[in-house]
Amino acid sequence: TDTHPPETADVLVVGSGIAGCAAALAAAREGSEVVLLTKAERPDGASTDWAQGGISTTRGDPEALKEDILEASDGTADPDAVDVLVENADEAVEDVLLETLGIEFDGSDDADDDAFDYAREAAHSENRILHVDAATGTHILRPFLNYIDEHEQIEVRQDTAALELITHEGRVHGVLTDEQADGHPIYAGNTILATGGIGALYSRSTNPDDATGDGIAMAALAGAEVADLEYVQFHPTAYAGENPFLLSEALRGEGAVLRNAEGEQFMPDYHPDAELAPRDVVARAVASEREETGEVVLDVSSLEFEAEFPDLAENCRDRGIEGDEIPVAPCEHFLCGGINVDDRGQTSLDRLYAVGECARTGVHGANRLASTSLLEGLVWGLRAGTEVADADAEPQIVEAPDLRNSDPDLPERFAAEKSIRLKRTMDEYLGLERDPEEIARASGVLRRLKGEVDAYIRTRTARDLYELRNASVVALLIARAASENGESKGCHYVVTENEEQPAEQPAGD
Ligand code: SIN
Repeated sequence: TDTHPPETADVLVVGSGIAGCAAALAAAREGSEVVLLTKAERPDGASTDWAQGGISTTRGDPEALKEDILEASDGTADPDAVDVLVENADEAVEDVLLETLGIEFDGSDDADDDAFDYAREAAHSENRILHVDAATGTHILRPFLNYIDEHEQIEVRQDTAALELITHEGRVHGVLTDEQADGHPIYAGNTILATGGIGALYSRSTNPDDATGDGIAMAALAGAEVADLEYVQFHPTAYAGENPFLLSEALRGEGAVLRNAEGEQFMPDYHPDAELAPRDVVARAVASEREETGEVVLDVSSLEFEAEFPDLAENCRDRGIEGDEIPVAPCEHFLCGGINVDDRGQTSLDRLYAVGECARTGVHGANRLASTSLLEGLVWGLRAGTEVADADAEPQIVEAPDLRNSDPDLPERFAAEKSIRLKRTMDEYLGLERDPEEIARASGVLRRLKGEVDAYIRTRTARDLYELRNASVVALLIARAASENGESKGCHYVVTENEEQPAEQPAGD
């Protein structure tokens, strides 16, 4: 047992992507002492580091960005939440990314032009996206982490996972970490979850491998409201082979086209905006053409691919892809729903906030517009950080959950085997298309799986066991959300067995 006094922080942030960094920065700026936990050892453990296309600005026209967000979401995004995003977007980018971190987005060194080299992506009516090559996330996150690492009031703790929230009478008081076998409590005046997405629930994802939905699971287990979990966004163009990587929508923004195995450019048959249609429409079209014709490629021959997208060109070379046609398939990319929060990131539990991909702000509705996720993480991270610092709540020492770690060792193959079963179930039944009968079948498999994991978790605290518990909790919540929503919208596309698949309709029609 720990003989030291209990560890406390004014503000505890869990997660080291753009949202967690922004929350930590804002709270520290207001005078709070912040502890930021990250289970990653290196910065590329956060999905932000993997983000390619960029971060949207409004280019001075918040209304136009708002309209695009609402349209891409098929009218399901919450207009008030979108207002918060678009009204705070440019100031947040200017303050944090340009002034504080000094990020040099492409075009910023053009002497004769004070504008940036704004890019365009699907379903944007304007060129308004700031980027650095197609490696924008890396160029934002690394300086951001360096900055907060050096900040006197922020302690960054790497390779540290949160296992459980510490709750008492409906209020959250911090987390138990895996720094001790039976859980190490860190008590906090306020706790901000910024744990990212759920890519590890699927066999193919553009997220890091350990995106196991930890914050969503911990919050839901503590009784927080979650919403919109059926809206799992699949990116239309990830490399179709082993070890998939994202082929940024910026490529299509620059004129790359999708072709089926017969060499036909098929997107104009699916949507008037062709390659630049909303992401859910393109993803289903790619899947359908792959099924019918055997293959879909992204033809980049009209682009200066090597010169303009050097990182992507290198990824292609590493996989042995030659020529201008890159085989692509849809791939899990982003969870539009999550822990329900208000316009400052407050969850339904007292002193618990959530920001970034693990949160559901209402901005994305049923389908997220490209290059709004870094922006949402930045804006809500800053708002939540400022809010909790202003609230200035004292950490309180309450009884922490007893993890009963009688047996620290997990049978070696247990987590790996269960994780494969979970991914197969999600791939097969909760992917791009969902059939109510199949969702019911998936729920049965997932319930059994969670039961098996729970039986182990009663006596062991291995991190991968908790990650598996979190993944199975979120998988079940996704299955439940999908089964309760019979309406096809955005990323949630309902078909019934033996039903002739309905023709794609343009979003908004
Ligand atoms: C991309 O570069 O295509 C991803 C952008 C995003 O998901 O917002």
